[in-house]
Amino acid sequence: MQAITVRDREAGASGLALTELPYPHAAGNDVVVRVHAAGFTRGELAWPGTWTDRAGRDRTPSVPGHELSGVVAELGYGTTGLTVGQRVFGLADWTRDGSLAEYTAVEARNLAPLPSDTDHTVAAALPVSGLTAWQGLFDHGRLTAGQTVLIHGAAGSVGSIAVQLAREVGARVVATGRSADRGIALGLGADVFVDLDADRLEDAGSVDVLFDVIGGEILDRSAALVRAGGTLVTVAAPPTVKPEDGRAVFFVVEPDRARLTDLAQRLRDGRLKPIVGEVRSLAETPSVFAPGRGRSGKTIIRIVSDSSTEAGPQ
Ligand SMILES: NC(=O)c1ccc[n+]([C@@H]2O[C@H](COP(=O)([O-])OP(=O)(O)OC[C@H]3O[C@@H](n4cnc5c(N)ncnc54)[C@H](OP(=O)(O)O)[C@@H]3O)[C@@H](O)[C@H]2O)c1
Repeated sequence: MQAITVRDREAGASGLALTELPYPHAAGNDVVVRVHAAGFTRGELAWPGTWTDRAGRDRTPSVPGHELSGVVAELGYGTTGLTVGQRVFGLADWTRDGSLAEYTAVEARNLAPLPSDTDHTVAAALPVSGLTAWQGLFDHGRLTAGQTVLIHGAAGSVGSIAVQLAREVGARVVATGRSADRGIALGLGADVFVDLDADRLEDAGSVDVLFDVIGGEILDRSAALVRAGGTLVTVAAPPTVKPEDGRAVFFVVEPDRARLTDLAQRLRDGRLKPIVGEVRSLAETPSVFAPGRGRSGKTIIRIVSDSSTEAGPQ
């Protein structure tokens, strides 16, 4: 099968290459998925799990990509809850070969059924962004109706989903981003937009929950905005600051089949719309993986077209 691989930590995105790999092995509790569409996170080449397995051993050449939508091709021994031929979407494991491939083996618990009328391209934009936004706002941030949340990077993959989920629950949303992001953030339902290039963050007012995806100096300046009893949640890096009278939380997104199922329902009935940007082929992945300003929406790699049959291994 064809896959995108990386071998050299120092090479960054320039080290990505289209490679021929063996069909993946389905271990116990695994599902092999025929990947129809895949998503990736631009920073993942810096994650330790891209290069080593769970025991810390080198696992290169490794296949990046942690979001997928496709069809179950094979079940490993003992796998329950899914069946061959079923449409599914979800997360690839952090320390195994990922979704930028024709087939990938993942733990069954990482996947949820995908309704027949939901497009694989849109579904592949949701697993990491949707679960991260949900877990950040509600599990870690404990956001409730009537509270105010500030969401950094509101036009990005995670931020844009967070704005929509926060609005739906009845929170007041202060969104931030670059000047060009204003229309997107307000269009998604944000009440206020703070332009991080032109406005003073400190004028945003106090908030109950601050959800950060940027880190660094912007995160450091954000802690002071969190009101007493509130929470600063970040997914960028463990924070070195903490609200004076509140909590600071860093977390890594967890697989959650029930929540993915719930997010798929929101997608279906139009309550949630991931912003999909460019849709490219597997062979084009190296040219679109590198970080670049001005890219709007999540880039999706489409591996099987809609007109293809959803068959198992060939
Ligand atoms: N811990 C976890 O479990 C977890 C899960 C998901 C994501 N993440 C991390 O969260 C981060 C965001 O992920 P994502 O997929 O949402 O990325 P993304 O789609 O690139 O979104 C990030 C957004 O923040 C904006 N931004 C970044 N730096 C900025 C700055 N200095 N000023 C103003 N706006 C800025 C970006 O604008 P530009 O594109 O113009 O820079 C973009 O709109 C990444 O670092 C990712 O690795 C962590």
